[in-house]
Order: sequence, then structure tokens, then C-alpha cells
Amino acid sequence: MEQPGEIKKVSMAVIKRLPKYYKCLGNLLKNNVERVSSQELSKILGFTASQIRQDLNNFGEFGQQGYGYNVLQLYTEISKILGLNTIHKMVLIGAGNLGQALANYSEFRTHGFDIIAIFDTNPNLIGRKINNTPIYPVEDMEYFINENDVDIAILTVPKDKTEKVIEVLSKTCIRGIWNFTPAEITTDDIIVENVHLIDSLFTLSYRINEDKLQERLLKQKRKIFPDRR
Ligand code: NAI
Repeated sequence: MEQPGEIKKVSMAVIKRLPKYYKCLGNLLKNNVERVSSQELSKILGFTASQIRQDLNNFGEFGQQGYGYNVLQLYTEISKILGLNTIHKMVLIGAGNLGQALANYSEFRTHGFDIIAIFDTNPNLIGRKINNTPIYPVEDMEYFINENDVDIAILTVPKDKTEKVIEVLSKTCIRGIWNFTPAEITTDDIIVENVHLIDSLFTLSYRINEDKLQERLLKQKRKIFPDRR
């Protein structure tokens, strides 16, 4: 049970919705919208108004009855909650197909996520630059990360190379790993966020097959309960 003075742990489901609020408020700001109600947010985002109020109440009292939310204030607060009000230094490990695509994506920098170095083992890549970011030998990684106070590592190495890389990262000041490899990473002191495009593809596949699934379930039900409509 929560003790007095203890801060309630916010659920992962709420945390996953925060970027949606943030992006939505950003769009409203671009359109010069100054205030918004939870009902209006609900129409845009598809969550219920009460869910939105509950979610935001986890972090403080932002709305005012009869007024709604001040868009700029809420946007700024959520940006702080998400830690977007500071620059995050990142390194990318593994400059192959996926690594190069990520390194070339300039939007990360726009949001304060700055890839300052890339590491690889391939001598043909070392010394080159991707999107102006230099590729260094992986042997320099530990020193570089600690020296430059890097907080996030993007991991795009082959699965079987992951363990070795994690061993090195555990000796650094890295606080978070954005893991694109299929490897399960368990570390006590580094927070890992896994990204699996294939999961998203499976979800899409489920959704485009949902109608057929409903039909099948209905048919099965009719077989079991033939008298029910
Ligand atoms: P790739 O083979 O093109 O690139 C891997 C790169 O890592 C190479 O440049 C290689 O020299 C480098 N490398 C190998 N060992 C290293 C080490 N110890 N330290 C630093 N660099 C090292 O592979 P690709 O296609 O870019 O995939 C990379 C990873 O991403 C794989 O684990 C793959 O399964 C995963 N992947 C994940 C996806 C996702 O949705 N999460 C989608 C596609 C790939």
C-alpha cells in the first residue's frame, strides 16, 4: 500500500499514452489553440474524457473546471514529465541497415535526442560519418560514453553480439538502452525499452483479420448454442 509522502508509481499504460497527449497538444499549439477540454481531447485521441482526466491527474492538477486545460502549460508540463526539456546524448551501436536508417533520421535531434557517436566493429565503416555523426571502433565505446556523459544507447547489433555489448555498457554511465535487437536484455541498473517492429506488424495483421475472426467466433457460438440468435 502507498505510504504517506510516497509518490504513486504511474502505470506503464499511462506512460505509453503520454507521447500521444504530447503530440496532440503540439499540434493544437501549432494551430494556435490556447485551451482544450478533456472532451475535445477525447474526440481527437479516442480515449474517454474521464480516462484523460485520470491520466493527467497522476502528475498534478492541470485542468480547471469550466476552463479545461491551458494547451501551452500542459504541453510544457508533459514535456518535462517525459524528460524532453533536456538534451539526451545518445550513441548508436551497430551501423548496419537498421542503425544507418536510425542515424539518418533527423527528427530525434529535433526532440532533443542527439546521437553524438556511432560504434561498429566493421573496419570499412570506421572513420565514416552518417548524418554528420562519426563512426568509431567499438573498443573506444566505454571511454567515450563515460567521458561524454552519454545517457542512452541505441542497440542495433546482431542478436549474438548483444551480450558482449551489454557487458561493456554495464561499465558505463548509460541509463537507458533502446534495444532493437531480438535479444532479451536483463540488467539491474540500466532501463531497457525494447522495440519490435514485428510485434506491430502482427498487431496490424490481427486488425485486418479481425472481421473474419469475429465471423468465425459467431459461427462457433451458433454451433454450440443453435437456438440463440
Ligand atoms: P546488419 O548486419 O546490417 O548490422 C549490424 C551491424 O552491427 C553491422 O554493421 C556490424 O558490423 C555491427 N556489429 C556487429 N558486432 C558489433 C559489436 N560487437 N559492436 C558494434 N557493432 C557491431 O543488421 P541489421 O539488419 O541492421 O539489424 C541489426 C539488428 O536489429 C539485428 O539484431 C536485427 O535482428 C535487429 N532488427 C530489429 C528490428 C526491430 O523491429 N526491432 C527490425 C530489423 C532488424
